[in-house]
Formats: sequence, structure tokens, C-alpha cells
Amino acid sequence: MAESDRNLYELLGIRRAFRNLVTRAHPDKGGDAEQFRLIQQAYEVLSDPAKRAHYDSTGDIMRSAEEEFMDSFAGGSFRDRVRSAEAAAAAAPSIQEQITVRQSKESGSHSAGFEAWMRGRGTGGVQVFTADDVIDQFGVVKGSYDAVPLPRIRAHVVRCSGPGRAAEVLSLGAEDLPAELEWGQVLVSVRYAPINPADLYTVATGGTYGQESVKPPFVPGHDAVGVVVKAGPGVKHLHENDWVVPLRPFLGTWRSLLVTAEKELLRIEPELMPMEQCAVLRESLTAYRLLEDAPGLRPGDCVALNAANSAVGQMVVQLAALLRLRTVAVIATEDAEAFAKTRDWLLSLGATVVLPDRGSLKTELDKLKFFAKPKLALDAVGGLSTTRLSDALADGGQLVVYGCMSGKSPVWPWHTWVFQGIQVKGFNIRRWVQEHKKKVPALLESIAKLVSAGKLNTAYTEYELATEFDEALEHALERGKNTKVLLKISDVGVQY
Ligand SMILES: NC(=O)c1ccc[n+]([C@@H]2O[C@H](COP(=O)([O-])OP(=O)(O)OC[C@H]3O[C@@H](n4cnc5c(N)ncnc54)[C@H](OP(=O)(O)O)[C@@H]3O)[C@@H](O)[C@H]2O)c1
Repeated sequence: MAESDRNLYELLGIRRAFRNLVTRAHPDKGGDAEQFRLIQQAYEVLSDPAKRAHYDSTGDIMRSAEEEFMDSFAGGSFRDRVRSAEAAAAAAPSIQEQITVRQSKESGSHSAGFEAWMRGRGTGGVQVFTADDVIDQFGVVKGSYDAVPLPRIRAHVVRCSGPGRAAEVLSLGAEDLPAELEWGQVLVSVRYAPINPADLYTVATGGTYGQESVKPPFVPGHDAVGVVVKAGPGVKHLHENDWVVPLRPFLGTWRSLLVTAEKELLRIEPELMPMEQCAVLRESLTAYRLLEDAPGLRPGDCVALNAANSAVGQMVVQLAALLRLRTVAVIATEDAEAFAKTRDWLLSLGATVVLPDRGSLKTELDKLKFFAKPKLALDAVGGLSTTRLSDALADGGQLVVYGCMSGKSPVWPWHTWVFQGIQVKGFNIRRWVQEHKKKVPALLESIAKLVSAGKLNTAYTEYELATEFDEALEHALERGKNTKVLLKISDVGVQY
């Protein structure tokens, strides 16, 4: 036997020692769940030559992007479930116990008393404003600071003359940059701006989904990724060369240069991931949250989603595969050849089964002998497509509505609520980001690591804004394109 063929672990009985240890430490046998996890982790590290070498030389445990994702997703609870479903189940206190513990802890704490006192005070108390709040509300008097002069550049810009058919109301033009940056403003060189369903909705209706409206003429584009090229007076958190994405809709990102307030932008770490993938950050964040916010998902559970070939859908499928979740990917493609092509592509991304968005999803899954019904259904289409999803859901399952591509309000039969006890909720990533700002950096990092490791990707096609806008628009309006159309900006405009 060659030296390398010999298993040194077997030779020294280490594998058997591990088995003995793991049997004794298993939570089912009264062991501690965390200790059990650590033993498994130690074995994984020492039995992998690369990880072992890294550990021996640095004392640190080397983790792959996939492992890091598992460790961070849902606070690591999903990882535990994957490693040992029984261990996690044994370790988790019942909901009843959790409620009792939480109630007894909270009712006696100082903060609970303080919060009760605050609630009792009502809203009429004294409010404290900082200098920044005052500036936010009233601005800074012009002339009380030195504005930063800007170069005389005529930038490329897409204009929308009014709500209507995109091909008729959109045109490419040029716009002079303002002469100066005022208080709190930055100049951003937009590098990529996607043409998203939300943008086309704004062009068609003049509003975002049921919210504000914008008066024509306006520059469309809610999303983008860009680089700060100049920071104006009073700018605190952004610097030249910072990468930024918009925090709110209606920034008008289909342009080469954008002047906007610092507070409208979210800074992302430069080189965090390829810029093209940053341009679809809203979609990645949405996919991640749709899965992480789902209550009680376990490895092996099933998630159904429509518009599975959309950018969000592709990423849900990929993340679900990493989490050992099974996905029923529903697509609207009618043509048989195109369906087969899209199906194969989604299967290659990790989908478990791909079905057309027609007929009864429940019947199709029964025919396939899918042993577990979906616990979670993700709806981006509305109308009868939502009915299909809700009908196929397991009793007590959750339906999350996050888009409405058909333009028709979601429909679901009353009995799915009453007899199947399904829960319905809506989701919006901008609202989530506003409410969880502190969690955003860790989430971005987690996504970036997966993207860099080639585990998470969105298909995209680039078009130069200044020369190929019409072509880009035509492509974006096509059905069944299986790609995100990105406006690429290499040319910022002309100097005058
Ligand atoms: N709630 C949030 O925070 C949030 C965040 C991001 C996106 N979204 C929403 O998520 C959805 C997907 O966005 P995305 O950027 O990922 O999409 P995308 O990549 O542009 O793809 C569009 C998807 O919509 C489908 N579609 C288009 N018209 C349709 C119709 N009339 N009926 C049924 N399906 C239709 C397309 O199917 P075909 O291939 O068959 O044309 C494709 O699957 C959109 O509704 C978007 O507004 C929501």
C-alpha cells in the first residue's frame, strides 16, 4: 500500500475516537448542543488538508464562502440545523418556554420599567433636536459656506416626457452639470444603472408602486452603482472614490453624472464585489431577506416562487440551494423550447423542479409525488399566479408578496386562510433597509463573499448609455429574456 493511500486517521484510531466522542456528546444523549457543534467543526477542520494546514499555521479556522454564509445566515441557526437537525431540535426551547422566559425577564428589567414609563408619558413630551436635525429640516443658508465648483460638463441623461409607452416618452439627451456643489451634496459618476421593472412602472405611470408620483419631465432610474468624484461642503461620511448606491427611489439614475445629497446614498466598500453585481444589490438583498425572514425554515423544506427567472428569483434559487432548501421554480414562459432552456438553466442554478405558471401547481406537485408541500411561497407576479402558489402551500405556510409583475392584485381563495391557515405578508427591501440600517454592512459582506466565491450571481447584459440606449430599452421590454439589462456608463459627457 502506498504511503499516501494509508489513512492516518484510521491508523491511529482517531476516526473511531471521534465517533465515540460525538455519540457521547450528542444532545440526544444529554450532551450540550454547542459542544457538539464544536466537536463536529474540529473534525471537519482537521480532516480537510487545506483547512488543517491553515489551522496549524495560523490557529484560525479557515471557512469557505459557503460556510461563512451558513454561519451568518439566520444567526447561524440554519448551519446548526444542517449539521444536526436533531441537535438543533433538542436544544431549542419550546415557544411556550421562550414566551415564559421572555415575559419573566422583560417584566422585571429596568428597561421594561423605563419603556412602560415612556409609553405612559404619551407623545407630548420634550423632543431633543441635534444640529444635524435642524440642518436636515431647514438647510444651510447659501453664502454661509464655500460651495465647491464643478467642471463644465454636459452629461448624458435619459428624459421621460410624461407617463406613457416607454418607447414613445423616453429619449436620450444632454444636461449641464450645476455650477457648484451645495451643502451636503456630492457628485457621483454613475457606472451602472439597471432597467428594472420598477423603473418601467414609473415611466408608464409616473409613480412607484402606489407611493409618490413624479412630475414630467423627469429622469427615470431608481437604482445604480456609482463612484463619488467630488464631495461638497458639509459632507461628512462620503469621500472621493467611495462606491455608492441609492437609498431611496426617484434619484433619476439613468444619467452619467448625478448630483445628490449625501444622505440619499449608501456607501458600499469599494471592490466589495464586481460593480455589475452591485447594480443589482437591491435584488440580492431582497432574495436574502425573503429567505432569512421566513419563520422556521429547515433544511429539506420546500420554497415555491414565481418569476423564478427574474433577478430576485435566480438569487432565491441559488441561496436556497446553499441552504439545502428545495425550490419549486415557477416561470411564465409559454413557448416549449424557451421553457426547456430556462428550466435547464434554473436547474443548473440549484432549482429542484421548474414548472410553468398555469393550471394547478398543487396538482402538478402531487403528480411529482413531492413529499413536502412548500412552507414558503414568494410572489412577484400577482393575479392568478398568487392563487396557484397559495393553493400549493402547506397548511400554516407563509405567502410573501414582494412584486406584481402581472399588474393584477394578488388573488387567493378565502378557504386557504380559514382552513389551511396560511399567513400572508408583504415585503419591501427599502423599508427593511431604513428600519435595519445597522444590519446592512454585515448583509452586504455576506452577499459579497458569496458573489466573489462564484456561489451567487445574476445574469446581466450591458449596453452603453450614450450610444445604445434604444437597444437596451428594447431588450429590457422583452419577455423571457432571462437577463438583467444594465446601462453601462463609460463616457460621462462632453466638456464645454
Ligand atoms: N419588494 C422589494 O423590495 C423588491 C425588490 C426588488 C424587486 N422587486 C420586485 O421583484 C420582481 C422581480 O424583479 P426583478 O428585478 O428581479 O425582475 P427582472 O429580472 O426584471 O425579471 C422580470 C420577471 O418578471 C416576469 N414578468 C414580466 N412581465 C410579466 C407578466 N406580465 N406576468 C408575469 N410575469 C412577468 C418575467 O418573466 P418572463 O421571463 O416570462 O418575461 C421575469 O421573470 C418585480 O416585481 C420587482 O418589482 C421587489
